[in-house]
Order: sequence, then C-alpha cells, then structure tokens
Amino acid sequence: MSARSFVIVGQTALASDAFLLNDFPGTSGRLDVLARCVRAALLVSHGVRRDAAVYLVLLGGPRAPRTVRIAGADVKFLRPDERSIATLLQKVLTGDHGAAGDGFVPVKPGIAVAAGGLDAVLADLTTESLYVLDETGSDARGHLRSAGGAFFLGDHVGFNPDARAQLLSLGARTVSVGPVSLHTDDVVSVVSNELDRIA
Ligand SMILES: C[S@@+](CC[C@H](N)C(=O)[O-])C[C@H]1O[C@@H](n2cnc3c(N)ncnc32)[C@H](O)[C@@H]1O
Repeated sequence: MSARSFVIVGQTALASDAFLLNDFPGTSGRLDVLARCVRAALLVSHGVRRDAAVYLVLLGGPRAPRTVRIAGADVKFLRPDERSIATLLQKVLTGDHGAAGDGFVPVKPGIAVAAGGLDAVLADLTTESLYVLDETGSDARGHLRSAGGAFFLGDHVGFNPDARAQLLSLGARTVSVGPVSLHTDDVVSVVSNELDRIA
C-alpha cells in the first residue's frame, strides 16, 4: 500500500458521470476541486509519484456515496491537465462498480471505485498515522514522518464535522501547513513537499 495517501472529502462532488466537461466546475458539484488534487498528489514534472495514492470521497448527488481511489504505483496514462483528469473521472464513474460493502473494485489500471465513503477508505488504509489538515491545527512540521501516512482534506466548503469527529476518534492528529487558508490542491502540494524534504 502507498506510503502517502491523500483523502479528499467532497461534500458536494458528484458521485456519477452526469457532468459536462465543458462546464466541469458548474455541473459537477465542484468535483474540479478534487480533480486538481489528483494532479497535486500523483504527478511531478515528467513522472508519477509511485509511492502515493489519492482517494476522492464523492458525497454529492443520488449515486453518493462513492469513492475513487487512484494509486500512483499502477496508474497509467495520467495527464496533468484538468480536462484530462475530468474525462478520466467521468469514465470511471460510468456504470456500477460493486455494491456497498464490496470495497474497492478495479476499473482501470491503478484506479478502483467503492460504493461507500469515508468508511470504505478507512477499511482500505493500512497506516495508523492519520492527519486531518486544517488551518487551525498544530504546525505540521514536527509531526510529519518520513514514513508518510494518510492525510484528510476538505473541499471548497471545508471539512465535514462528522467526518472530523470520526477521524479524531481514531486518533487522527489535526495539523496545519500555515496560517493562511489555501486551496485544497495547494495543501496537497505543500504536504508532499514537506514529506519529500524529510524522506
Ligand atoms: C479551501 S479550504 C476550506 C475553506 C473553507 N472556506 C472553510 O472555511 O473551511 C479546503 C481545505 O484545505 C485544507 N486547508 C486549507 N488551508 C490549510 C492550511 N493552512 N493548513 C492545513 N489545511 C488547510 C483544509 O483541509 C480545508 O478543509
């Protein structure tokens, strides 16, 4: 399993393929916020982070909850531009991929879909180092470990309080990458960089 896992909880992100590529932000419940995190978590200049994975928890629309997992170890043909990632997500969200309780069902190389939300992610993770990213947390520097961990982030409307409570009950630590509220994908980049620097 990946050393670094980024889990983005999309409170309104559409859990189906019913969005328009020509108006991705306006028709997808802001799935575009999560799509940008795929690039930030998995792609570097001329390469893929093979030790990283990203989970997109999709809580919007009648097909919710569903979660897309993309593992850098196995993914193929992942491109950095947002439209390509939107197209990829639309393809993997087409049709049914298992039922609740089935866990992650492979759809393409390195990409799997689960018919569940945070519970499906927590059942899939192998690390016990859980971090909730939040502006009000303690400084991430000093808490992060080279071994990585699982990093949970909110979307354009922040972090769901129930999800936060669930993670804290599991021993998650709330950490901040600085005093300024950043875009979610920027936080993923900053955390990745911090881990790179201590690896
Ligand atoms: C755009 S921010 C959320 C802004 C939203 N308006 C709010 O008030 O919660 C999206 C997510 O990025 C993460 N985030 C943003 N800035 C951060 C920071 N300085 N440190 C840690 N996490 C941060 C948090 O997980 C947050 O839920």
